[in-house]
Amino acid sequence: MSGTTSPDTQEVVRLDAVHKIYGGAKGQKNQVTALDGVSIGLDRGTFTAVMGPSGSGKSTFLHCAAGLDRPTSGSVRLDGVELSDLKERALTKLRRERIGFIFQAFNLLPALSVLDNVTLPLRLAGRKPKQDAVDEVLQRVGLAGMQHRRPGELSGGQQQRVAIARALVTKPAVIFGDEPTGALDTHTAREVLILLREAVQWARQTIVMVTHDPVAAAHADRVLFLADGRIVSSLERPTPDQVAERMTHLGAWGTERVAPSGEPVAERVAGTAEVAGGGLGQVAGAGQAPGVGQLPGVGGGLGSASGGRPVRPSVQAPAWEGLR
Ligand SMILES: Nc1ncnc2c1ncn2[C@@H]1O[C@H](COP(=O)(O)OP(=O)(O)OP(=O)(O)O)[C@@H](O)[C@H]1O
Ligand SMILES: [Mg+2]
Repeated sequence: MSGTTSPDTQEVVRLDAVHKIYGGAKGQKNQVTALDGVSIGLDRGTFTAVMGPSGSGKSTFLHCAAGLDRPTSGSVRLDGVELSDLKERALTKLRRERIGFIFQAFNLLPALSVLDNVTLPLRLAGRKPKQDAVDEVLQRVGLAGMQHRRPGELSGGQQQRVAIARALVTKPAVIFGDEPTGALDTHTAREVLILLREAVQWARQTIVMVTHDPVAAAHADRVLFLADGRIVSSLERPTPDQVAERMTHLGAWGTERVAPSGEPVAERVAGTAEVAGGGLGQVAGAGQAPGVGQLPGVGGGLGSASGGRPVRPSVQAPAWEGLR
């Protein structure tokens, strides 16, 4: 593998002038600029949330930073390795060894036990799972005693814990999550966020999480805001209110405002669901003015958009795509 590893560098993820353009040659009509010159460094041992209106480039940012997708131009360094220098095979190896990815829809293999799901990345990487280490991870995520169950025998929150354990078990340099709490009810989402927060503390993990939820984002050390493929602002250790306010300024959900209690302080404008796109567009009854508790991440908080039921189908790569 080319590139150098420098485990002591403060920045474990570094993007410089990253552009991602979909849809053919420059200037073509159907072309979409998903990332438009993103430059950012993420420090080791930190928890970063990425927010922005639907279509602003959050998933693209995550996929490029994680080496799941290649930028059209610009540089991505992951754990000291310049990804553009890597051929496909070396990139796959790096992903397997140095990143963990948590998907919204968990992406567990239903036929495998909890234990086998969790240890799969190790086995794919040709490493023999160490019983003690695996037990510790299962214990940490609250799954001790459940290792022989199948995913179908677990609650949504427990399944997401399996996915987190699976992301933790290889001790990756960075764990990326694309709306990891998006399919969970408020209470379970909170537990999962606390778990991620703890992973930053006890394992000095680095976590980068896309979310639509100001309450979820407020668990992070820093929140980055994307709009039209650019990082337009950031907040350090914000409150949910500060996050919600910034999102409002980005036009992410119409004129919605959130008071400290999490209650709305202004009427939501009917028909703004389209403006909000994927976020609010998923809300049951969007287009009417829904009660704020129905909005993902506002009031109801933590992605409780429709009574805790999954509201956003997974739009990420299929299970294991990036990790094989
Ligand atoms: N494979 C693709 N081909 C063409 N365009 C794409 C592709 N993937 C994403 N895009 C476009 O790139 C832009 C950014 O998409 P991306 O999925 O990163 O947005 P997002 O911020 O994650 O949105 P959401 O909140 O809805 O998940 C959008 O305009 C989207 O339509
Ligand atoms: Mg997305």
